[in-house]
Amino acid sequence: MLATYRTDRSYDWNYRHGPTFAGRVPAVPATPEKAFLGLPVRSRIGIAAGLLLNSRWVALYARLGFDILTYKTVRAAARRSHPMPNWVFLAGARGGFPRGAAASARTAPRRGAAAAALARTVSLGLPSTAPAVRLRDGARARRALGSGQVLNVSVVASPAPGAPAARMVDEFARLAGLACEAGAQIVEANLSCPNVCSAEGDIYHDAALSGRIARAMKRAAGATPVLLKVGYLPARRRLGRLLEAVAGGADGVVMVNGIPARIERPDGAAAFGRGRASAGVLGRMVHAPSVAQVRSAAALVRELGLPLAVIGVGGVATPGDAGDFFAAGAQAVMLGSAPMYDPLLAVRIKRAHPEW
Ligand SMILES: Cc1cc2nc3c(=O)[nH]c(=O)nc-3n(C[C@H](O)[C@H](O)[C@H](O)COP(=O)(O)O)c2cc1C
Repeated sequence: MLATYRTDRSYDWNYRHGPTFAGRVPAVPATPEKAFLGLPVRSRIGIAAGLLLNSRWVALYARLGFDILTYKTVRAAARRSHPMPNWVFLAGARGGFPRGAAASARTAPRRGAAAAALARTVSLGLPSTAPAVRLRDGARARRALGSGQVLNVSVVASPAPGAPAARMVDEFARLAGLACEAGAQIVEANLSCPNVCSAEGDIYHDAALSGRIARAMKRAAGATPVLLKVGYLPARRRLGRLLEAVAGGADGVVMVNGIPARIERPDGAAAFGRGRASAGVLGRMVHAPSVAQVRSAAALVRELGLPLAVIGVGGVATPGDAGDFFAAGAQAVMLGSAPMYDPLLAVRIKRAHPEW
């Protein structure tokens, strides 16, 4: 089956013409209703921020049976995507990935049908349309959902270099308000983009700042649940500090975003070109570390009695992979890149596990 996102075309092309899906939408199993963050859902299986570029993408994946639909991260002002290439497939890693920032991953040619199960990396730079377009499109996305499906809108601030943190906190709050106006039933702050070279990519490393953002977004979002997307944080003490700082503001944490590594071609040159040496690794290579972090976070939430849901993401390409996250204590599981090659995955997951 053709990938729904054409990696041989630009982000703008995919935004305007995608998703490319020529298949027949199969009957989606009618699974029993359950709750996620107090909202009724048909399953706790969703699409993470990324693949759903606009309401047409949300509509397709809703029809394909994914029930928590995350609208790709939006900014307050329009921003262009990084130029192509935006995607590469990875052969393996050197340097003990994912233990250190010095880890590097080698590119490999894509191997056809196995693509959904491979490790890969994407470098787009968090492009965004203008807010007026998004408000209209958010409403369209919401209308495209069936019963038991929820729209989660991901947002990120765009701090100018050297700007005071308070301005970034205010911007996250303003974006949360805009997302609610556009029809979001959940708002997610992206505190962890591995593919931008500016401060907004690293916020989750600062527990106090993450807590301020969570509380400001909560004030702006009112009854709408707030999630925080965080990155790789293997040190248990630091993870605990982050969770304590955001609990009470955020309703949940989504982890793990792509794990940064230097992405090299076989000749050692940077695969994405100058200024983009590092990018987030996705797929197979990040599954085990993501499950380990979710297990650690779920245990901390229990031990510390924090009012936080933990949502797992990272390398889910089969029902068994999703099961790893539920067994680790996740309350929902989101898929980032595999559904692009395997859009019928939610149907198979629901057939095998209607209780999820
Ligand atoms: C095309 C694409 C774009 C993405 N853009 C975003 C984004 O805008 N915001 C975000 O928080 N994560 C983004 N991600 C990261 C995913 O949400 C997810 O964390 C990552 O892909 C790991 O999951 P996976 O191993 O299932 O792919 C993107 C991923 C992909 C594949």
